[in-house]
Amino acid sequence: MAVNMKGKSFLTLMDLSAQEIRYLLDLAHDLKAKKNMGLNGQALKGKNIVLLFEKTSTRTRCSFEVAVRDEGGGVTYLDPGSSQMGKKESLEDTARVLGRFFDGIEYRGFDQQAVVELARHSGVPVFNGLTDLDHPTQILADMMTMEEHINKPLRECKVAFIGDVRNNMSYAWMFGCCKMGVDFVGYGPQELIDGIDQELLSACRAEGEKTGCHIKISDQLDDLKGADVLYSDIWASMGEEELIPQRAKLLAPFRIDDNMVQATENPNVIFMHCLPSFHDFNTKLAKDWIDKGVDIREVTDEVFRGPHSVVFDEAENRMHTIKAVMVATV
Ligand code: CP
Ligand code: NVA
Repeated sequence: MAVNMKGKSFLTLMDLSAQEIRYLLDLAHDLKAKKNMGLNGQALKGKNIVLLFEKTSTRTRCSFEVAVRDEGGGVTYLDPGSSQMGKKESLEDTARVLGRFFDGIEYRGFDQQAVVELARHSGVPVFNGLTDLDHPTQILADMMTMEEHINKPLRECKVAFIGDVRNNMSYAWMFGCCKMGVDFVGYGPQELIDGIDQELLSACRAEGEKTGCHIKISDQLDDLKGADVLYSDIWASMGEEELIPQRAKLLAPFRIDDNMVQATENPNVIFMHCLPSFHDFNTKLAKDWIDKGVDIREVTDEVFRGPHSVVFDEAENRMHTIKAVMVATV
């Protein structure tokens, strides 16, 4: 069946079919190969995209900006301080105005409902650039990276997400895995496992039954056996900084190290991370905390820089996959 995503928003992978996700991945591989040959398209010629960021970003912002320019379009960046949104103007009014100017809207912020509202009222495709619940463009890049580094189809793979199993990246993985038939294990401490939204987990498991995969949550190291991907994220997400000391205590046993890599019993396991990452003490935050006796590294430097790590390929693929989303929908 032919896939046509023109006009469609990209809010969560739960809204997409497996065929649509497959189509975006194939398109991203194709766009990457073309760019590597020095060939950029004109798919966004005459189109303008606005980027709304209520949280900071390096990869997502730059991916959107470079992708739009590569395809001949125009891009406008608005940070939280430089628009009326939320302070003097409602989300609905903002969406109605931006929909008159732009052909697509990227949004990074807090509430998932914000991207839903923007899509409802703007009349143009809206792209979720991260909310407290989801990070779907990241998963697309991660799956693309898996296809480049793992010599078998996604539906035969097992992804282990380690750490804050109730954060946006963990949910984003559950959504992506259940749609694409990838086994998922969320491995973390019981206290964070207890915070998982049971309704969402059940929805993912029901979807996983259709695509033939298991969505498992566990505090047992044994469950990492056979993993093809060990995935890590920072322990306190944007907006949760006051939780850093308690999370560091809770998650210290879940720091990814060589022993955890060994626990997969898979010599070809890859290490992935959405980034930014605390893996050494070369950031202000990691240094300030270690000076107070708190180690906030979610992964050791040995694993981050080691032979299993594919984190910079993964970061590059943010751009190719975000380009695919815009080329497909705008
Ligand atoms: N992974 C990711 O979304 O990175 P940024 O926060 O830098 O955009
Ligand atoms: N969980 C992290 C992901 C960053 C890409 C955060 O929300 O800060």
